[in-house]
Amino acid sequence: MKDRIALVTGGAMGIGKAIAIDMCKEGAKVIIADISKEAGQKTVDEIKKMGGTALFKQINVVDYESLNIAADEISKELGKIDILVVNAGISIKKSFEEIDEALWDKVLDINLKGSFLTVKAFLNHIKESKYGKIVVISSGSALTGTGGGIHYAASKAGQNAMVLNLAKELGPKGINVNAIAPRVIQTDILDHLYPDEQSRKELLNKIPIRKIGQPEDIAYLASFLASDKSKYLHGQIILLDGGRTHQ
Ligand SMILES: NC(=O)c1ccc[n+]([C@@H]2O[C@H](COP(=O)([O-])OP(=O)(O)OC[C@H]3O[C@@H](n4cnc5c(N)ncnc54)[C@H](O)[C@@H]3O)[C@@H](O)[C@H]2O)c1
Repeated sequence: MKDRIALVTGGAMGIGKAIAIDMCKEGAKVIIADISKEAGQKTVDEIKKMGGTALFKQINVVDYESLNIAADEISKELGKIDILVVNAGISIKKSFEEIDEALWDKVLDINLKGSFLTVKAFLNHIKESKYGKIVVISSGSALTGTGGGIHYAASKAGQNAMVLNLAKELGPKGINVNAIAPRVIQTDILDHLYPDEQSRKELLNKIPIRKIGQPEDIAYLASFLASDKSKYLHGQIILLDGGRTHQ
């Protein structure tokens, strides 16, 4: 990925941070685009200490103007984006009866509308690249109905539909579009979903590989999907779940 430019939304923490670090290790210049300036800048500093090249842009994926401002600045500073990782997302676990309209809107807005606005804002930049790649971090919950609740699963199912449509529209323009659908990965979101030892134990028993996935496990696949080695891989929703779903 030498000299490729990658933008990772939600790149300040968790899975996005691991993706940003791995792409830097593979030679890419990385833009951490996140709502959290403090965490984003910290990640940029960490990458620079490792000898990588990174910069921070503050965005809110539901604020189209903030995305367009970042897109304009990147255009002037770097010229193009080769790799767009649509990763920013939230999970607020609730049962169907607990979810009210405001919570439904919040989760659908950030996870689904935010993904749409992100691609919309940066697509022209990717079209400038000879190596355009879009990688969406969806969730296995869209395929299984488990995880953070119906609002979360619906937002992730919407992302999957977006990926399938984008693959049809952007494939002929030379842009690869794929999604990674993780199930349980060790980040703050997981701590929120499985807060105590007993729930963790029960969770592990459901995963044939008997391990909770690490952010790096997603990052290695994201880097592969963003590399030339995966150029025939297109329009796929790839489950990354330690064998849990189809055991
Ligand atoms: N952790 C898991 O088990 C798991 C499983 C399946 C899918 N996912 C998906 O992976 C993605 C990353 O999740 P994570 O576990 O790393 O979460 P995380 O909470 O650790 O990190 C999310 C990042 O997104 C940023 N963010 C949140 N709202 C934003 C907004 N409106 N605009 C810009 N940035 C925003 C946060 O500041 C943070 O840096 C999400 O889309 C999530 O749905 C996670």
